[in-house]
Amino acid sequence: MSTANDARFWDRSSRNYAKSPISDQAGYERTLERTRALLKPDDRILELGCGTGTTALRLAGGVTSYLATDLSTEMIAIANEKHAANPIPTLAFRAETAEALASEAAKFDAVLGFNYLHLVRDLAGTLHSIHAVLAPGGLFISKTPCLGDMSPLIRLALPVMRAIGKAPYAGVFRAQELSDLIAATGFEIVSTESHASRGKDSRPFVVARRN
Ligand SMILES: C[S@@+](CC[C@H](N)C(=O)[O-])C[C@H]1O[C@@H](n2cnc3c(N)ncnc32)[C@H](O)[C@@H]1O
Repeated sequence: MSTANDARFWDRSSRNYAKSPISDQAGYERTLERTRALLKPDDRILELGCGTGTTALRLAGGVTSYLATDLSTEMIAIANEKHAANPIPTLAFRAETAEALASEAAKFDAVLGFNYLHLVRDLAGTLHSIHAVLAPGGLFISKTPCLGDMSPLIRLALPVMRAIGKAPYAGVFRAQELSDLIAATGFEIVSTESHASRGKDSRPFVVARRN
């Protein structure tokens, strides 16, 4: 399996994903509020794995530039449809990955990745690319399902679901492992927060600063 297969999976899923409700609306609003508070008006933002652009459309108006990217051209097509209905001059959508952007050194003041890091094939490599595109002192803000902290049943079901094309590639790691890897890439962990409005939260919101 490859990134091209991942792109096909997400292309196929895009219209249903666009229709599916946010699972924890209150938790999502908390994440948006917290992220907004961390961004400054003159910031240049990169969002990775932006999906259909819901978050970008909520945040882009408050910053100087906001490039929202995703592996899936179909996700980006839907995001562009939504953007056309609600234009925001600072916002642009592009089908792109962190690895492809890594040559754009120090170009962004903050990188955002929500429900994204568990889907990349080479987590350490992706974190290095994120480090490369951030200006010194820039923030990497993420919220990531940590499958290693979830029920073992999910981890058992995933390979079966994947084999029949019903689940994407997903890496299994714990929140602590993710945090350690982010720190080992050259970031200082500023905070690790729980934004879930109910139940156990296995999707830590992590704010990290590029050293
Ligand atoms: C679960 S969705 C999350 C979308 C959005 N961030 C959200 O929170 O609703 C994951 C998104 O990541 C994208 N994706 C998966 N692997 C990727 C990769 N290697 N690089 C960039 N985007 C990727 C998928 O196409 C999909 O749109």
